[in-house]
Amino acid sequence: MADKLLLRALAGETLDVPPIWMMRQAGRYLPEYRATREQAGDFLSLCYNSELAAEVTLQPIRRYGFDAAILFADILLIPDALGNDLWFVTGEGPRLSTIETADDFAKLKDGDDVHDHLAPVYETVRILSRELPKETTLIGFAGAPWTVATYMIAGKGTPDQGPAHALKSENRELFDAIIDRLSEATIAYLSAQIDAGAEVVKLFDSWAGSLKGQDFDDYALAPAKRIISALKAKYPHIPVIAFPREGGDRYIGFGRATGADCVALDNSVDAAWAAEHVQVDGCVQGNLASSHMVTGGDALMSETRRIVKAFSGGPHIFNLGHGITPDADPANVQLMIDTVRNG
Ligand code: CP3
Repeated sequence: MADKLLLRALAGETLDVPPIWMMRQAGRYLPEYRATREQAGDFLSLCYNSELAAEVTLQPIRRYGFDAAILFADILLIPDALGNDLWFVTGEGPRLSTIETADDFAKLKDGDDVHDHLAPVYETVRILSRELPKETTLIGFAGAPWTVATYMIAGKGTPDQGPAHALKSENRELFDAIIDRLSEATIAYLSAQIDAGAEVVKLFDSWAGSLKGQDFDDYALAPAKRIISALKAKYPHIPVIAFPREGGDRYIGFGRATGADCVALDNSVDAAWAAEHVQVDGCVQGNLASSHMVTGGDALMSETRRIVKAFSGGPHIFNLGHGITPDADPANVQLMIDTVRNG
């Protein structure tokens, strides 16, 4: 296990060639993914079909030999399991029944009901831990409470997370109760993924950047710290990657303050800056702009080399700054991998 490259970087080792994987590596840019999704019926059915979810997780590993596989699921399965019903509108994105009042909140499910609903996800993890190549690390994940709450409160994705910010200022008690419930559910969800075989877990806080000042401390940092402390108490050897996306200068010290073993960076921060201010504390992950997977060419290669070089003085996991998009060219992914591995 200790010779898996991703685990070595997460343990703080500086490697000659960084391990590499990609957010949304199982996704619509791959024809084999689109075919399996079609077979499953739709995206959510694919998430809850353990055999097919494991199959799409394995597809990019077979095609590219990434150093890590990320469980195929979605951060919105937790609200779905809590009874905040989820569906996807083609071309638009997720929709959920909203939480606006204490009554809506009181109707949410608890305990075993939640985990019975998520049982197919745990089964996907078990299949993957049997079927992945021995050098590939299996990453489990969950959304961070703030990001998941923004979808539960608005009932959909919003450009500025306005409804969640509004509830936070208008009914702080209800807002705090939602964050608290999500924190507990996330601890249980990630624990069950680890019990099923996840070797690393990642916390996605995609909308952390819209929390400013004290709000960032209270709703990005504190819940991450609570979740990570609870996991570390039970699973001291399982590394945690935290992704407070668009955290800007709040990336500084985030790993130390939360106990995360690695801080994932989006591409709005410069790699040389992040090496100096964030990587000083430990492993970082990132941060090539995903647009290079669409445009390719010399710019992809030179930017990849620049990032690898900037982070070469410490532990680094190469990744994109955000998920790969459906219009990406699979050949550009290979070009990125070859550039990271062969210089
Ligand atoms: O990285 C991975 O490959 C692991 C699986 C994964 C998915 N979503 C699969 C997915 C992970 C880790 C996520 C995280 C996720 N989901 C986030 C946080 C990270 C981020 O991207 O900011 C968020 C905000 C969501 C919620 C979500 N899921 C949205 C807003 C959408 C629709 C947008 C879109 O890209 O269409 C999804 C759908 C989704 N989740 C897809 C995949 C592969 C595309 C669905 C499809 O096949 O039609």
